[in-house]
Amino acid sequence: MGQVYNLPNALDGRLKTCPTNCVTSDGQNLIWKSLIRPVLFSLPAEPIHYASMNIFSGISALPLARSMFSSQYVVKDSRLQQQVFGLDFENPVGLAAGFDKNARWIPQLASLGFGHVEVGTITGQQQSGNPKPRLFRLPADKALLNRMGFNNDGSQLAAERLEALEKKGRPENCCLGINIGKTKVVPLEEAAADYLLSFERLYPFADYFTINVSSPNTPGLRKLQDREPLEKLIGEISKRNEQLSNNPKPVLLKIAPDLTDEQIDEIAEIALASGLAGVIATNTTISRDGLQTAPEKVESYGNGGISGGPLSGRGSAVVRRLFAKLKGKLPIVGVGGVMEPADAWEMITSGASLVQVYTGFVYGGPGFAKRVNRYLLEQIEAAGMRNVAEAVGSKSEI
Ligand code: FNR
Repeated sequence: MGQVYNLPNALDGRLKTCPTNCVTSDGQNLIWKSLIRPVLFSLPAEPIHYASMNIFSGISALPLARSMFSSQYVVKDSRLQQQVFGLDFENPVGLAAGFDKNARWIPQLASLGFGHVEVGTITGQQQSGNPKPRLFRLPADKALLNRMGFNNDGSQLAAERLEALEKKGRPENCCLGINIGKTKVVPLEEAAADYLLSFERLYPFADYFTINVSSPNTPGLRKLQDREPLEKLIGEISKRNEQLSNNPKPVLLKIAPDLTDEQIDEIAEIALASGLAGVIATNTTISRDGLQTAPEKVESYGNGGISGGPLSGRGSAVVRRLFAKLKGKLPIVGVGGVMEPADAWEMITSGASLVQVYTGFVYGGPGFAKRVNRYLLEQIEAAGMRNVAEAVGSKSEI
């Protein structure tokens, strides 16, 4: 370990005594924080996303590797288990949509301790998304800025991939959400048909579906959050859901953080009246308020949605507002700015039954879901609660 002293100062020589499991004062893995993340973050964001996941997949394919990851990262504790919209979740921490857009890495991600993985957004047709570069890091804000534009293989290929996975055996104890969106070239007025195409093709494989009407990177998509088009879209998907099975699948709606309180209330009303199984709040924000990163730099990256740190307060505020309106009749999935385990507790106590993470996982590394789950257990214990379900909405008013 002599070379260790040539590594960045942040290491403080602590590697001498702790090879792989050493944590820093903020609970992060030392090797991840001081070595791996700086290397990954020195490379362009989108290519390194694919490169690191491909390397991780390669390692996971080695005999015993995946079970080793599972035993390292999966937190098993009955106090974290919940039934939400009719599904059994092993723990409340899920991976948000956009990370595994093409449903390529479900078993690998499950081995990192997520209780659910939401793949997508998947659209009716294959599309390449916006021109690159389209994904940027804002480290001063612990944030990402993206304008990916639903780059994905389309629902036909995704269905084939999921069918192959089903044959090999899908990971147990990890629910699969499929997030669907509109193909860019399909006019907004024909959006429902495009969502339905993906919904039908992917139907056999999903534990739940998410209707994404909140990406800022597909022109006009957020207009589908307005009452009339939204009721029409949910209505058509619900109708098909009942035609396809006697036991319809849970369908959730994912909304933007940039809605006004009145719009959030309206969506809650629509959700209650239309048979949705729950609401996911929130997607990325188009707001540039309160950023630490120099404005010229942010501007140089162009349009896009911001995720991570800047969403921390807003995400849980939207959850609180929704919780007050839904009055516990429909569950909420809280996402946006869960960068530290305490943010997940805040989401849950504000009213989220489940949380999802994306940017927190990118910054926090492979042990992030485990850190969050362990912290939730500590909080449950400290609050004298029996389980995580008791914590849901405990700091919110109905
Ligand atoms: C996303 N997100 C996203 N959401 C979605 O519903 N469909 C998608 O395709 C994507 N794609 C996507 C790509 C990238 C690069 C990022 C960073 C995010 C939004 C994501 O699921 C989540 O709602 C937000 O990122 C907020 O959560 P975090 O990142 O603050 O934990």
